[in-house]
Amino acid sequence: MHADTVRRIFVVGAGTMGSGIAQVAATAGYEVTVVDVDPGQLERARQAIDKSTAKLLEKGRLTPEQREAALNIRYVTDMEAVAQADFCIEAATERVDVKENICRELDARARPEVVLATNTSSIPITRLAAVTQRPDKVIGMHFFNPVPLMSLVEVIRGLQTSDATAELVMELARRMGKTPVEVRDAPGFIANRILMPFINEAIFALQEGLATVEAIDTVAKLGFNHPMGPLALADLIGLDVVLFILEVLHRDLGEDKYRPAPLLRQLVHAGQLGRKTGMGFYDYRENPKGTPRTFR
Ligand code: 3HC
Repeated sequence: MHADTVRRIFVVGAGTMGSGIAQVAATAGYEVTVVDVDPGQLERARQAIDKSTAKLLEKGRLTPEQREAALNIRYVTDMEAVAQADFCIEAATERVDVKENICRELDARARPEVVLATNTSSIPITRLAAVTQRPDKVIGMHFFNPVPLMSLVEVIRGLQTSDATAELVMELARRMGKTPVEVRDAPGFIANRILMPFINEAIFALQEGLATVEAIDTVAKLGFNHPMGPLALADLIGLDVVLFILEVLHRDLGEDKYRPAPLLRQLVHAGQLGRKTGMGFYDYRENPKGTPRTFR
């Protein structure tokens, strides 16, 4: 399929990433439908898109027409509508069984020529492709959080992904205003292979009492010019997601350097997953920017 023939984009999964992807696809001029089994999640996505596009309009980074397009996104709970899709992006929970089931279902419902892209951050594309009858049309399209503000898209080819599929996805990413970078299918791809050990090391430093949350993040902000420190970034990504990716790196690459910090595991066990639960390395319950917590 050529990029010019793609008009209707379906995004499966209405979480933070799914809603961000739906937003950038809609403001790029595509007819977008978001599919999620949970109506509450769809409503939260609609509100997030409303808020984000209002802010971007106010700053002159979107036109009124682009905001209107984002407000026209369709939200559905039934996968049947996928039969109308020209292109699908799966952005569901980062769990192998969940993503395999969605890929199977998309494969059964989407027209045979339609490409199935997955926004997985760590599950092998080749593995997800294997549950479909169209492994040449399955590809990784990995966006970054917050999607409307982050320019990068990692494009990951599975073992059987065709050149035509890769070219289509590179072009669609460009049309969504992103810069695509092609990488090979390996645990964590490139971004998370680099980022997660960095975050994990910051958590080890914290649990060893080397410095406070605030001090560690200040080092990265002022010492490396990062817009936010690794602990604040972990809270933004979600500590459950960080733990999951580290476990994949640890297991699949088999090296101790990827061993998740025990403090990270503890926070996840406690249900303190970062911004989305109001508490992580920072406390967001009263201060939306986050108050650094003390760990001992
Ligand atoms: N839509 C629209 N506007 C948004 C937004 C969104 N989704 N998210 C934040 N903003 C706005 C804020 O409202 C704020 O607006 P204001 O200045 O009018 O108040 C503006 O952006 C700046 O935000 P902040 O003042 O809160 O903070 P920053 O200047 O630090 O910018 C940031 C925020 C863009 C998130 C910046 O800190 C940043 O780039 N951080 C790094 C993010 C990063 O590394 N992401 C990658 C994560 S890894 C990943 O996603 C891969 C996965 O597989 C794990």
